Amino acid sequence: MVGLPARGKTYVARKIMRYLNWLGHRTHLFNVGNYRREHIGSLQSHDFFDPHNEAGVRQRTEVALMALDDMMGWFGEGGEVAIYDATNSTRARRSLIRDRCEREGVRVLFIESLCDEATVEANVRATKLDSPDYVGIDPDEAVRDFRARIEHYAAVYEPVDESEGSYIKLIDVGRQVNVNRITGYLSSRLVSFLVNLHNVPRPIWLTRHGQAEYNTVGRIGGNTHLSELGTRYAQNLKRFFDERIMPAGPVEVWTSTLVRTHETAAILGGQTLQWRALNEIEAGICDGLTYAEIKTRYPDEWKARARDKLTYRYPQGESYMDVIQRVEPVILELERQRRPVLVISHQAVLRAIYGYLMGRELEQIPHLSIPLHTVLELTPKAYGSAEQRFSLGPTLPAHSGPSS
Ligand code: F6P
Repeated sequence: MVGLPARGKTYVARKIMRYLNWLGHRTHLFNVGNYRREHIGSLQSHDFFDPHNEAGVRQRTEVALMALDDMMGWFGEGGEVAIYDATNSTRARRSLIRDRCEREGVRVLFIESLCDEATVEANVRATKLDSPDYVGIDPDEAVRDFRARIEHYAAVYEPVDESEGSYIKLIDVGRQVNVNRITGYLSSRLVSFLVNLHNVPRPIWLTRHGQAEYNTVGRIGGNTHLSELGTRYAQNLKRFFDERIMPAGPVEVWTSTLVRTHETAAILGGQTLQWRALNEIEAGICDGLTYAEIKTRYPDEWKARARDKLTYRYPQGESYMDVIQRVEPVILELERQRRPVLVISHQAVLRAIYGYLMGRELEQIPHLSIPLHTVLELTPKAYGSAEQRFSLGPTLPAHSGPSS
């Protein structure tokens, strides 16, 4: 990362980390500020960051090198992507990093964040006042000190230029993106991801369809209609929609292409967007069976899935990792959308989407709880999202027999 303080570097870095880990690329964030706080202590006044303060410069270089060493160690342990989160504001510092990486066979891509004054002000107030650097300090004093810190960095700041190799420049979070010498699959994916990024907060609601006929008998997959209880859920969802979702402004409603999500959305009125990518995990030869039937007919498949539910692929069907790859365009669109969105989909797909939005470990995704007849409301916060669950009912009888 490259950029003056309060340019949203950590926000972007965390988003990238979450996205790449979710896609299955082992990614880790090395935040040099945390190394400084741990090894030198927080509560440093702005003088510490003055480029004329020799002791400060020496100490800051030491912690930056410590983080760099740990980062190279992470690659040695099988890490695929590391995000080196610091201001990296001079050409000299960046070339030190690049030389070290290139010596050890690691490719470098600089992501520079440049922001207008209003965004800087909002960032300072939203994130820096809660920073461990300003615990117990009067907010106005903290803002003054942080602004002085920014000035110290600005005095020596050199924007990334074309001679420095691959870079992505983010200007005013999403207003403009400039790229230079981007090649390869991952870097191109990152460009698409970053082009869609913005920081306009809006809620996202996730719900499964109302109970479908197959759910009543414990069968998986299929394309059945809503049950009577499922239809009642759709009515409850309509009430919730009118009272809580509509007031948030013009809302996007997305469904899968399967009947049970259409029937759930129909009563809401208005337009819906149908995504094939939101269809339930394809269970292949097990589609339409109960878990008990799968266990007796295909005991080896049952055991294989129990061993590793994330990568297990149903014969002629999909794995959770397949679902994640399939759902990725939906995630990009969710990131791009500035309107609130209600997603009406299915258990496995919503596990994948929720896992991304809440930054859950990949291995947890197939086991996340996404019950029927419940709406999950996710509201973005500075780093991550807050969650509220609304059980709208009707409540369903507990399902008997072996579960997944
Ligand atoms: O049972 C409902 C359902 O949506 C099935 O169609 C799907 O196969 C299943 O949930 C996914 O959950 P799990 O991965 O836990 O079997």
